[in-house]
Amino acid sequence: MANERTLSIIKPDAVAKNVIGEIYTRFEKAGLTIVAAKMMHLTQEQAEGFYAEHKERPFFNDLVAFMTSGPAVVQVLEGEGAILKNRDLMGATNPKEADAGTIRADFASSIDANAVHGSDSAASAEREIAYFFNDSEICPRG
Ligand code: PPS
Repeated sequence: MANERTLSIIKPDAVAKNVIGEIYTRFEKAGLTIVAAKMMHLTQEQAEGFYAEHKERPFFNDLVAFMTSGPAVVQVLEGEGAILKNRDLMGATNPKEADAGTIRADFASSIDANAVHGSDSAASAEREIAYFFNDSEICPRG
């Protein structure tokens, strides 16, 4: 499997629950390396730009309101098959449908506040990483 990078966000609900460390441990135990990270309280403009592809969806305003409701932690994860591996760790978008032991099953309370985001494809990962990080802010190991 190819070495990949993916963009992950620990959303405001999970930050408020004080589970940043528990989520980071899951990434690391799965063989993913955090090669960039920042805590940020997204502005309306940043959230709208990040989720621009969902602009016409009925939940768009709620999603932007939620993502700007408190601080989030944004990171780049690197590793073999990182995009799919992170999606597997996250579980289904709706925590009620997420497999036991996934991040959303354990830490998310609803589809509106579902704890984490992860890029869903190589193209999304490239766009989303560049949305939050300059090359100089990404620190690959070894
Ligand atoms: S799709 O069709 O696969 O693109 O949609 P999906 O990945 O399921 O959802 C895209 C993002 O929108 C969030 N979402 C919602 N927010 C608020 N309310 C409702 N009902 C809702 N449904 C989906 C979902 O968490 C996704 O956010 P990210 O950050 O990408 O996980």
